[in-house]
Amino acid sequence: MKKILHIKRQLNSNSESYYENFVYESDNENATVATALLTTPVIWEHSCLQKKCGACAMVINGKPALACNTRLADMDCEIINIEPLRKFPVIQDLRVDRQALMDKLKELKVWLESDSINGNENISYEASRCLECGLCLEVCPNYYMDGKFGGMAAMTPLARIIDKSSKDQHKELKKNYKKGVYNSCGKSLACRDICPAKIDIDKLLVKSNAAAIWNRWNKE
Ligand code: SF4
Ligand code: FES
Repeated sequence: MKKILHIKRQLNSNSESYYENFVYESDNENATVATALLTTPVIWEHSCLQKKCGACAMVINGKPALACNTRLADMDCEIINIEPLRKFPVIQDLRVDRQALMDKLKELKVWLESDSINGNENISYEASRCLECGLCLEVCPNYYMDGKFGGMAAMTPLARIIDKSSKDQHKELKKNYKKGVYNSCGKSLACRDICPAKIDIDKLLVKSNAAAIWNRWNKE
């Protein structure tokens, strides 16, 4: 197998970007874009290489994806276009600064302030699978950095704890949910098809809206 990696490069956030080609050849049928990048002298972020950490999120042939979840043998083109996520500032090459995503979680106060009370475990488990990779933000027509909307990357952790918080915190979380998610989500659901964790976004939205906006939480 021979692939040409057509990679968008940038020395730092202020410099001009340019493209550079790298040839990758291997007999490994299971090689992924991440496998190829490991032998390529460009800067990118990775940790688990097992679809668990979300660090290797990037845009591959125009589609947001995890590099370690994109098998080269499944791509029927020889040239593979690889670019950094577009909604965050580039640090270098394919590495971006996703601090805005973390800042949004802090702004929305997505943590428990006391022991959790019993909640809907199925919903919490579903929400806990979020990698905070940011791929959903890449395709979201309503998310932009420093805007009020936190996107699904904020909705999933909120959904995880909204029914488990203490009464006082629950009140504040509901307010934050309304401000940071409900008021800005246009329900395009573009995020649903891109999520590498295949989180059931519809279900989480319905349940979280019920709990945070309509004061209902239907136990399953
Ligand atoms: S909801 Fe899915 S796409 Fe969005 S940050 Fe979580 S794992 Fe990534
Ligand atoms: S390196 Fe962890 S998800 Fe790809």
